[in-house]
Order: sequence, then C-alpha cells, then structure tokens
Amino acid sequence: MGKFYESVLRPYLFRQEAEKAHESAVHYLQFLGRFPFLCRMMEWRNLRPPRSKSIALFGLQFPNRVGLAAGMDKNAKFWPVAGALGFGHVEIGTVTYHPQQGNPRPRLFRYPEQEALINRMGFNNDGATLIEKRLGKQIRRNLKRIPLGINIGKSRIIRIEQAVEDYLKSYHLLAEHADYFTINVSSPNTPHLRKLQGSEYLPALLENLATANFERARKLGTKPIPMLVKISPDLTYREIDFIMETVLDLNYDGIIATNTAVSRPVQLRTRSEPGGLSGRPLQKRSTDIIRYISKSTQGKFPIIGVGGIMDFASAGEKIDAGASLIQIYTGWIYRGPFFAKHLARSLAHGHKKWI
Ligand SMILES: Cc1cc2nc3c(=O)[nH]c(=O)nc-3n(C[C@H](O)[C@H](O)[C@H](O)COP(=O)(O)O)c2cc1C
Repeated sequence: MGKFYESVLRPYLFRQEAEKAHESAVHYLQFLGRFPFLCRMMEWRNLRPPRSKSIALFGLQFPNRVGLAAGMDKNAKFWPVAGALGFGHVEIGTVTYHPQQGNPRPRLFRYPEQEALINRMGFNNDGATLIEKRLGKQIRRNLKRIPLGINIGKSRIIRIEQAVEDYLKSYHLLAEHADYFTINVSSPNTPHLRKLQGSEYLPALLENLATANFERARKLGTKPIPMLVKISPDLTYREIDFIMETVLDLNYDGIIATNTAVSRPVQLRTRSEPGGLSGRPLQKRSTDIIRYISKSTQGKFPIIGVGGIMDFASAGEKIDAGASLIQIYTGWIYRGPFFAKHLARSLAHGHKKWI
C-alpha cells in the first residue's frame, strides 16, 4: 500500500489544493466509518502488532505506540476509524470553547521536496459544545476502540487574561469523553497563545485545570483524567526547564513534544509561508527536545514524541530519545493511510524498514 500510495494516490491528492485534499481525506474516512463491521475487521488486522503487548501509560492501555497527532481530526469526525488504519491512539482537536473559522485560505502549504508542510489554520473548529454532542453520539454507538485524547486551546476572541476560564469551559464540557487531555499552549497561529507557556500565565492555567480535574474526580469517585501539555519546538532550554518544573509540581501526567515550528531549522527550497512548519525539517529539533526532557527527568516522565516522523528510523530515534509513544501527522500525508500500522509493527519488532 505504501508504494501504491506514493506512486498513484499521493500524486492524485497532491494535485488538489492542500486543504481541499485534506477535506477529501476526511470525507473518505468518515465514509469508511459507515461500515463498522469492515472497520472491526481492519482493526483486527492492523491495530495490534502480532505477538506484542499493549503499552501502559498514565493509567491507559495503548495497543501500539503510534497515535494520530492533533489537527488532522479537529472536529471529531473520523477518529472512530483511526484504529482500523493502525493507530494506537488518536488526539482530536484542537477544540476551542467558541466555534471559529480560523485564518483565511490558503492556509496550508506543501513542500514535497523536503517532505514538509506549513500551516496557519488558526484553530478552525466547530467549538466545544457541538464537538461534545458529536463525541457523545459516537461513544454511545460504542465506536471508541482506542484511547481518545482531546486537545484544547484558547478561543481567538478571548483575551489572554481570560484564557483560564476559556480552557476550563472546554474542559468541563468535554471531560466525560476524554481518556486524556492535552493542554495546547504551543500552536503558532493564534495570537499570543504561546505566551501561555511562560511564567506569567502557565502556572495559573495549569493549576486551575488540575484543580478542576481533581475536583471532578473527587465528586464522581473516579480517577482524575490524565493531563498532558503540548509544547513548542521554538522554546529555549531554559524555557523548557520552567515548563517542566511547573508540570512536575502540579503532577501533570506527561508532555507532548512538539508542535509545529515558527523558526525554520532547515532552509526551505521554495518561498517559506508564514505559519507552523512540520515534517522532516522539524525532525531533529523535536527529537533533541524529547532527549533533553527525558534526561532532565531521568527518563521517568511520560513523553509523547511528535515532529517529523517520516520513516522507521525517525520513529525509532524518538523512542530512543525517551518518548513512550509517538504521534504522526505530516508523515501520514506523505506516506499514506497505513503508515501508522507499519511504524507500529516496526517499533514492536525492530524491523529496519518501515514497509
Ligand atoms: C495542518 C496542521 C494542523 C495542525 N493543527 C494542530 C492543532 O490544531 N493542534 C495541535 O496541537 N497541533 C496541531 N498540529 C501540529 C501536529 O499535531 C504536530 O504536532 C506537528 O505537525 C508535528 O508533527 P509532524 O511533523 O508529524 O506533522 C497541526 C499540524 C498540521 C500540519
């Protein structure tokens, strides 16, 4: 399938404008979701690498190490089929409390020679209220097969001083459906969002969310929902130290490293658009950050590694650097629908090639 995708399907999809191709993909995947029996059969074939055990992390069981990164299924439309394609977990969103359209198009650009993307989507999504309803219906139909992460961010119309309230509203609406939450403070396309990573705002934001999470668990007599923070690759190591201190102090469960980069670690061959860079040029920077966090926490703090995983070698590097799980987005666009399945098998069995 990998070869067929790269020689036939990808050229066809890449002839379409990037966001149109994305919309077509979402549409096809939603269509696949109409055939639950077929999905179950595909899960049975694709989800768990043969002779492998599931991975236990922050109280959840993951059938394999490879998840779908946030941004691909912003509106929770096709996540129930992710397991059929071989993903061991899926992260929807970023969801904001207020529905929003995002930035004007075009806002997604391909750089095929360097296997990269630049996006400035700006958290286009249907908003927490509608997405909660959609999730409720899907989960009642018993479509949740793999751990579901919900990634939440700040609504654009909300001032940074009111961000805590805004995140809390999304948290409360969506908590019932989340196997874990990702607090996104690192997307480059919402003005001021990344300031939330700094000392002025981060402690209050994370503390309020942690308190709400513990309160909810106490009231319901359940375990708190695992809470993760997703960080930017553009941070300095000193800034990362501060984030790690805060996250450890507040007993957060893990870190997702990294989001897309505003910096350009590698020069692009064609004109670089403003926005967040992902794919191969991000690979080294995100791995360096994972290694740094892993070393500074003696390998004890859960890390989900994401950024430029394009083949088995780059997936293996993230695990070697200290990630327990990985996520993919751009690699999936370049390698095709079953890339996660092949990566998961390679990681489970130490194959040298991804296909
Ligand atoms: C088009 C696009 C949209 C994205 N949207 C989000 C988002 O809404 N929230 C988020 O946390 N990350 C978002 N990301 C970042 C990815 O989740 C991931 O962290 C990043 O792309 C690096 O991984 P990759 O190189 O495998 O793509 C987006 C990435 C792309 C390419």
